Amino acid sequence: MSDPLIEQARLDWMTALARIGSESKRHTRPAVEGVLTRMVGLTLEAVGCQAPIGARCDVVNTTGERIETEVVGFAGDRLYLMPTSEVRGLTPNARVIPSRQSSDVLAGPELLGRVIDGRGRPLDGRGPLRARHAVPMTGKEINPLNRKPIDEALDVGVRAINALCPIGRGQRMGLFAGSGVGKSVLLGMMTRYTEADIVVVGLIGERGREVREFVQEILGPQGLQKAVVVAAPADASPLMRIHGAMLATSIAEYFRDAGRKVLLLMDSLTRFAQAQREISLAIGEPPATKGYPPSVFARLPQLVERAGNGAGEGSITAFYTVLVEGDDHADPIADAARAILDGHIVLSRELAETGLYPAIDVETSISRLAPQITKADEFARIQEFKRIYSRFRQNRDLINVGAYQRGSDPEIDRAIAMQSPMNAFIGQDMTTAVGIDASRAQLAELLQVSETVATPPEEPARAGELVIGDGA
Ligand SMILES: Nc1ncnc2c1ncn2[C@@H]1O[C@H](COP(=O)(O)OP(=O)(O)OP(=O)(O)O)[C@@H](O)[C@H]1O
Ligand SMILES: [Mg+2]
Repeated sequence: MSDPLIEQARLDWMTALARIGSESKRHTRPAVEGVLTRMVGLTLEAVGCQAPIGARCDVVNTTGERIETEVVGFAGDRLYLMPTSEVRGLTPNARVIPSRQSSDVLAGPELLGRVIDGRGRPLDGRGPLRARHAVPMTGKEINPLNRKPIDEALDVGVRAINALCPIGRGQRMGLFAGSGVGKSVLLGMMTRYTEADIVVVGLIGERGREVREFVQEILGPQGLQKAVVVAAPADASPLMRIHGAMLATSIAEYFRDAGRKVLLLMDSLTRFAQAQREISLAIGEPPATKGYPPSVFARLPQLVERAGNGAGEGSITAFYTVLVEGDDHADPIADAARAILDGHIVLSRELAETGLYPAIDVETSISRLAPQITKADEFARIQEFKRIYSRFRQNRDLINVGAYQRGSDPEIDRAIAMQSPMNAFIGQDMTTAVGIDASRAQLAELLQVSETVATPPEEPARAGELVIGDGA
């Protein structure tokens, strides 16, 4: 039999070794610092340290301040970094310290009513955030077969959309228009009037002034209670703008996974794409279409596919504004967005110039889910409205110069008579909401009236007698 003292010493040793073993597992390898070798534009190059793409590194400037950066690429043993904030006082050979901070973001009901930046820090001066649930910034993949189908129409409070371009809960829509045609105002209307448990707003790359306006005037104190605003305005670094869009989506995902009905609004998707272009070009990716490198077109669906219905009860209905530069609808970002979204509402400068707001172009706006979420008779009315509306527009030049004689084509006569009431139907004051049932009923009524306006043949119209948009 062994000596009990020796046996006790052996046990003590075993316990101590086990403790040291488990302790040592918690301490990973020490971070190896690198040095800064080059800075061109906003891109920093570092050697001597290793960190994966997306990891954070701190660069220490002359005053000892740490500048937060993220690894965006590498070549050989060089790392390409991009700052997430303003860069000041950097020198050659500055220390580059890989950070162990995870790239997860914190979400939770504590975020409601708050305005935060792309890094998730409060901007509203209302104290620290206490959200505790870590969610991945890049989202979790959802098996496409597990997504709940979209089968319920959503009331957005805008008559022309409710009746003519109906949107389903969990649908992802684009709002396409040139600058200053009314994208932000329409988005604001939908923010106020759409029925949703939670509203998450991403203000990405737009004017800083609009952030305050959005929070104070559009949301107001009551709207803000169920909203989270992520703001990364135009002066934020490109990486911050990308993070802002991803963070807003992560927060929306958190609430969706908690079974809530979320409305996600992103103004704008174009600025997100432009931020990605800035980063990709800076690290040497060759531009492909109109200066956009291929990775931009890969990033767009990665962001947009995260919205929509989940496997459970929750949903993310999303609206992304898309700037159509110079009203060129063949713009590569507009084109890519159209292809990946479930529909698009197009705003027309021509209508806006006649004072018709919201300037929704019903001819070109499409909701891909309309047949699934409307009854057969409602869908038929949408088609009928579009047919009459476009009939007028196809013949507008002839009508306006007086070359069309009333009575020659009953369809055109009906279209002429209906032009003003139709424009009045599209127009809506931004301070009033029109519910979905009311919108549908008004459409049915409008079309019924239009059947009775069979125009008897009369004297030919004189040039200038018929003016589009009159009385709208
Ligand atoms: N529903 C509306 N009723 C009245 N005026 C409107 C409406 N929508 C837009 N406007 C007018 O159009 C202007 C521009 O609208 P808005 O800021 O929404 O455009 P935008 O498309 O977001 O522009 P940008 O691309 O520059 O961000 C508003 O300041 C307002 O004067
Ligand atoms: Mg705008």
